[in-house]
Amino acid sequence: MLQVERLNVAYGALQVIWDVSLAVREGEIVALIGSNGAGKTTLLRTISGLIKPLFGTIRFLGEDITSLPPHDICRRGVIQVPEGRALFPRMRVIENLELGAYLPEARAQRHETLERVYRLFPRLKERWRQDAGTLSGGEQQMVAIGRALMARPKLLMLDEPSLGLAPVLVETMMDVLTQLNAEGMTILLVSQEVHQALAIAHRAYVIENGHIVRSGTSHELRDDDAIRSAYLGL
Ligand SMILES: Nc1ncnc2c1ncn2[C@@H]1O[C@H](COP(=O)(O)OP(=O)(O)O)[C@@H](O)[C@H]1O
Ligand SMILES: [Mg+2]
Repeated sequence: MLQVERLNVAYGALQVIWDVSLAVREGEIVALIGSNGAGKTTLLRTISGLIKPLFGTIRFLGEDITSLPPHDICRRGVIQVPEGRALFPRMRVIENLELGAYLPEARAQRHETLERVYRLFPRLKERWRQDAGTLSGGEQQMVAIGRALMARPKLLMLDEPSLGLAPVLVETMMDVLTQLNAEGMTILLVSQEVHQALAIAHRAYVIENGHIVRSGTSHELRDDDAIRSAYLGL
């Protein structure tokens, strides 16, 4: 579904992504794991079209999307839940959710999609009229994911959805992603919660200083001594 080939990205003179190649197949959960500053957010933002690479190609459903503007990439079904959620705190939950359905096709289906979001996150149905800024961190993350779902993604990319959440909420979040995937959603998950990410992902890539240093099935990576000591504290 998604094919990234030899991607190189720089901020001015500072190159932070080096020859990164990765793939996500339809129906998979793929995790991208790496410590702070490794280049995970930069990679997601480049796939979304928010940063233009130096070179390399990004293909989605067989088409080259490398030089397309972000709205065009969204329209094709590549939707990102940004790091830090980026909600509108003074707007209601329902208004934040509906912002996700701004493209014509998503707009036409917004009532059904909203029901689906409420089924996944009953808490949001209870709090639909509350200002998003008054919700707990976990609830705000639910709104951010709900808003992305309102755009009817084919590929859902999440940037550290469990950052700063209590362990029980991290688990809830991972359960939701597993459920979405079981319903057919393809997911690219960026996470520092390596244990949890490997527990739900089919495959994973490890990024260090802008280089992919390991990749494999979650099972293989859990058994990898270097991964165990660097990321799993074993
Ligand atoms: N807007 C920016 N301008 C310059 N350097 C940046 C910018 N954003 C990120 N970086 C640098 O790029 C590298 C990768 O950052 P980032 O993609 O945010 O990593 P991660 O998401 O894995 O923590 C870091 O060294 C970071 O300091
Ligand atoms: Mg980041």
